[in-house]
Amino acid sequence: MLAIGAPVQPPDLSKCHSATDDETKQPVNCCPPYSTASVVDFVPPSPSKGIRVRKPAHELNTEDVEKFKEAIAKMKALPDDDPWSFKQQATIHCTYCNGAFDQAGIEPPVLLQIHGSWLFLPWHRCYLYFWEKILGKLIGDPTFAIPFWNWDAPEGMYMPKIYLGNSSSLYNDNRDKNHYESVFDYKYAYNDQNPTCPSQVDKVIRENLCQVDRMYKETIRNPELFMGKALRAGQSVPTNASGSLENLHNSVHQWSGPSESPYYDMGNFHTAARDPLFFGHHANIDRMRDLYNNFRGHRPEFKDPDWLEASFIFYDENRQVVKVKVKDCLTSHQLRYAYSPEKLPWMNSGLKCRKEKASKKKGEKKSLQLVPVSEFGTEPRTLTETIRVIVPRPQVSRKKGEKEEASEVLVIRGIHAPHGTAARFDVYVSKPIEGLVSEDRGEFAGSFVKIPHTQHKTNSHGHKSSLELGITILHEDIEAEDSKKLVVTLVPRMGKVIIGGVDVDLFKVDDYED
Ligand code: C2O
Repeated sequence: MLAIGAPVQPPDLSKCHSATDDETKQPVNCCPPYSTASVVDFVPPSPSKGIRVRKPAHELNTEDVEKFKEAIAKMKALPDDDPWSFKQQATIHCTYCNGAFDQAGIEPPVLLQIHGSWLFLPWHRCYLYFWEKILGKLIGDPTFAIPFWNWDAPEGMYMPKIYLGNSSSLYNDNRDKNHYESVFDYKYAYNDQNPTCPSQVDKVIRENLCQVDRMYKETIRNPELFMGKALRAGQSVPTNASGSLENLHNSVHQWSGPSESPYYDMGNFHTAARDPLFFGHHANIDRMRDLYNNFRGHRPEFKDPDWLEASFIFYDENRQVVKVKVKDCLTSHQLRYAYSPEKLPWMNSGLKCRKEKASKKKGEKKSLQLVPVSEFGTEPRTLTETIRVIVPRPQVSRKKGEKEEASEVLVIRGIHAPHGTAARFDVYVSKPIEGLVSEDRGEFAGSFVKIPHTQHKTNSHGHKSSLELGITILHEDIEAEDSKKLVVTLVPRMGKVIIGGVDVDLFKVDDYED
């Protein structure tokens, strides 16, 4: 067996086996139709090539829309066993998500899987890249660029209209039709009511924007919090933690797909890419990583060779099977595409979120009832109703320099949610008042959002994950910098979840030097 501590390698194409539908636990066939293909190394496009510009789906002009529809129609018209066909392209997602391969060279076998780890964003970037190039080939337009679902801007927080006409190649019937006209609430849990009155809609939009703003601010120095944690050869996934972006991404899947199990297509990974909306969603996820990379001055998110050298296999636009390394697709620029520079309405929206809170508090002061709150304790607890605990902080009143060296992170440990089910809980943080707590949940810190996921073969005891949420800025927002303890509120939203414990830690900032 390879020692743990090597980059994940592409699978042996000749050793594909059946994958598993996460919800029904039934075997599904997700093997690619090129088991004996010779594999060549991917060569990134030449820097002299033009840049393809991906635009927001809700702003495409008629010509762009027609082109996109035509390309998808052509892809759908290909025979099912053609690697370029819409069906095969969708199946790739199942291949890499639902365990159609084992990791090459690992004994005992470990399933190859890219979600819930630092491979999530690079893999999907490559996946979209080839999908886009193939579509361009099909319509004879090398400048063709796919649209992105701009769900981080108020006008984009709806299912883009281009995907809705039921006679179009972009349509898919397996969606939550209740959501065709309604705003997407990032805190959505299955069967939540749509916000209806304008003030509710405004509130949802504002809270969505705050959430994006906070996500960037709290993760900007610690890529693992944004991108997900390390996954090395021989490790099974989910290793430990998805990043904040992947958790948010899961909400989009759940809101788009049907609200009842089976959640095909968008709400179940083995079927998700059968919906053209998937690619609009993932283009925005990729764009958000692009922004993250820009904010960080284009430094690679990790300098660990186990990440940079990790590699995947794709079928390219020249009908060649290629091996792509994470380091080949660090930036969109390297791949000669870009996102149209949209306004970022969430940027610095934090100020607005805070002000509102403060004025609300004043009015409520009289009715404040304070109750005692205890520590989490040593035993795991089932999250059937809201859990509120008091948690000590490792350090208080940290100076600016100290904050630049280490981020304060809320760690929800030992999370267990049954496989094959969806789950969600939301996390709020507040400041205790003389050791007591008021009814107010406090400030939203983030969510754990799970899509039904395959049980790993060699780990039948049930895998535990953790949720890590940056709270350095949040402390400033709730003026709790000098507070020795925090009150953490876990609100169950979906599924049966067991929690192992709650801690606050300091995470050293990556010590990257150019
Ligand atoms: Cu591979 Cu949106 O999931």
